[in-house]
Amino acid sequence: MIRKAIIPAAGYGTRTLPITKVLPKEMLPICGRPAIDFLVEEAIKSGIEQILVVVSRSKNMILDYYDRSVELETYLEEKDKKHLLKEISLPDVHFQYVRQQYPRGLGDAVLLGKHFVGKEPFAVLLPDEIILSEKNEPLKQLIDLFSVYKRNVIGVKKISASELKNYGVIQPETLKDNQYIIKDIVEKPQESPPSDLAVIGRYIFDSEIFRYLENVKPGAAGEIQLTDAIKAMANDYPSYGLEIDGMCFDIAKSSEYVALINHICGPREDKDL
Ligand code: G1P
Repeated sequence: MIRKAIIPAAGYGTRTLPITKVLPKEMLPICGRPAIDFLVEEAIKSGIEQILVVVSRSKNMILDYYDRSVELETYLEEKDKKHLLKEISLPDVHFQYVRQQYPRGLGDAVLLGKHFVGKEPFAVLLPDEIILSEKNEPLKQLIDLFSVYKRNVIGVKKISASELKNYGVIQPETLKDNQYIIKDIVEKPQESPPSDLAVIGRYIFDSEIFRYLENVKPGAAGEIQLTDAIKAMANDYPSYGLEIDGMCFDIAKSSEYVALINHICGPREDKDL
C-alpha cells in the first residue's frame, strides 16, 4: 500500500513568467481551483493519506490555501452564506511542508522528503502535468503495477519527436502492451532520444531511491536530477515504465492550459452568491 506522496512545488515557474513572479505556478487557476488541487485530489483518490509539499520562500500561498480561514468561515456563517462553506472545506489528507533552501533541482527537492517517507514506498507527483483519465486515476494505475513488481514504476507517455528534448526519456524493453522495463533513461536528450516515451511526472519509488539521490552529482542544467538517480537505480534493480492511460496537460504551455480549462469547465452556471 502506498500511503505517502511528495509534491515538489519549489520551482521558480520560469516558463510561466511574468505571472509566476507573484503567483506560484501551482496556484494557477483552473475553473476556480488551483492547479495543485487536482493533484491532491488524484493522490487522495489513489489512496494517499499523507502529502509532503516541497515549497520555497515564495510559495506560502499554497500553505494558506490548505489552511482554515476562520475569518472567512465566520463571515459566511454570519451573512447567511453557509451554503458556500463547502467551497472552502479542506481535503481529507494530512499535509506537511518542507522548504527547499536553494533551487538545486528536482532530485534535491525529492531528497528533502527522506525523513517524511522513512522506509516505505512512496509516490511523487509533479504539478506541471494535470492528467485526466476516464479509467483509474493516473497515480492509481502506477500503484497497481507497483503492487505486482514491488519496484520503481514511472509514468510515461508517447509524445512527438520535437518535444522529447524537454522531458526525461526512457529506453524501454517492452514487457506487455503498455508496460516496459527501463533499460536507460536520459534527461532532456538534445539529440537521439532513446525512444518516444517521455516521463510525465508521476512516479512510485522504493525508498532505496534516496540512497541513489544522495550520490547524484549535478547533471543537466547543473541541477541534481531525479532522472540520474532513477538511471543509477535501474542498473541495480529492475525499474518499470507504465504508459499512463489519460490526457496530459502541461499547464506551463498556454495552449494546453487553455485546453484543460475548456475541457474541465465547459459551460457552467455562475455560483449563486
Ligand atoms: C521534470 C523531469 C523530467 C520529466 C518532466 C515532466 O522536468 O526532470 O524528467 O520528464 O519533469 O514534466 P522539468 O519539467 O521539471 O524540467
